Amino acid sequence: MNTCRHLAIIMDGNGRWAKAQGKPRTAGHFAGADNVRTIAIAANERGVEYLTIYAFSTENWKRSQEEVGYLMKLPSIFFKKYMQEFLDRGFRIRIIGEMDALPEGTRNVLRDAEIQSEKNTGLTLSIAMNYGSRREITLAARKYAQDVADGKRANDLEESEFDSYLFTADMPPVDLMVRTSGECRISNYLLWQIAYAELEFVPESWPEFTPEVLDRCLKEYSERDRRYGGIKYE
Ligand code: FPP
Repeated sequence: MNTCRHLAIIMDGNGRWAKAQGKPRTAGHFAGADNVRTIAIAANERGVEYLTIYAFSTENWKRSQEEVGYLMKLPSIFFKKYMQEFLDRGFRIRIIGEMDALPEGTRNVLRDAEIQSEKNTGLTLSIAMNYGSRREITLAARKYAQDVADGKRANDLEESEFDSYLFTADMPPVDLMVRTSGECRISNYLLWQIAYAELEFVPESWPEFTPEVLDRCLKEYSERDRRYGGIKYE
C-alpha cells in the first residue's frame, strides 16, 4: 500500500462548471477557492502532509483583464474567510511561483499568510501562484550559476541538490498528481517534482471534486505498483 505524502492538484474546469450553471467564470473560481478549503481539510484528515494546488500559472495572464483581476483578488477573499481556521488546524501556507510579478496587494496577502503560519507543523498547503515549471527550473539554473560564479561552491551539482534551488525546496517529491475536468495534460506544473509521481485524470470539474472523489483517487493510488524503474517479483 502506498501512502501519499505529497498530493498535487491541477484544479481545472471552474469556467465550464460555472457556464453550465449560467454563471460567470468568476463564480467558478469563487466556488473553486472554497473547495480548496474542503479538500485541504479532507487531505489532512487522510494523512496527506503536502497539498500543492495550481491557482495561477505563468500562462494565465493571457486571460481577460476581468478574470485575471478576480484571480488576483481571490487570495484576499480566501484568507479573510479561512486563515484563522487554517491556523487553528496547524496548517502551514507556502507560496510557490514568482511573487515579485504579482500586484502588491496580492503579494502582501500571500506573504502574510506564509509568515503567520510559518511555525506550524501540520499540513503544508502550498499555493502555486504565477507559477510555471520551466520558469522555476530556469531560475534555479540561474541561482546555481550565480553561486558558482560567486565562488560559493564548485561546479559539482548533484541531482539530489537541485531541489534546493527550486520553489519547492525542502518539500518531498510529488507522490500523486491529479487533474480534474477530463483534460490529460501536465501544463507546465511541477515537471521536476513529478518524475516518479502517479498521475490521475478525473472527469469531475474542480468545484465538483468532493472528499469522496479524493478517496477514490487515493484508493487508486494506494493500489498502484510504484517501482521507480526497478523490477518487483511477486
Ligand atoms: C482552471 O480552470 C482554473 C484556474 C486557472 C484557476 C484556479 C483557481 C482557483 C480554484 C482558486 C484558488 C485560489 C486560492 C486563493 C486558493 P478554468 O477556469 O481554466 O476552467 P475551464 O477550463 O473550464 O475554463
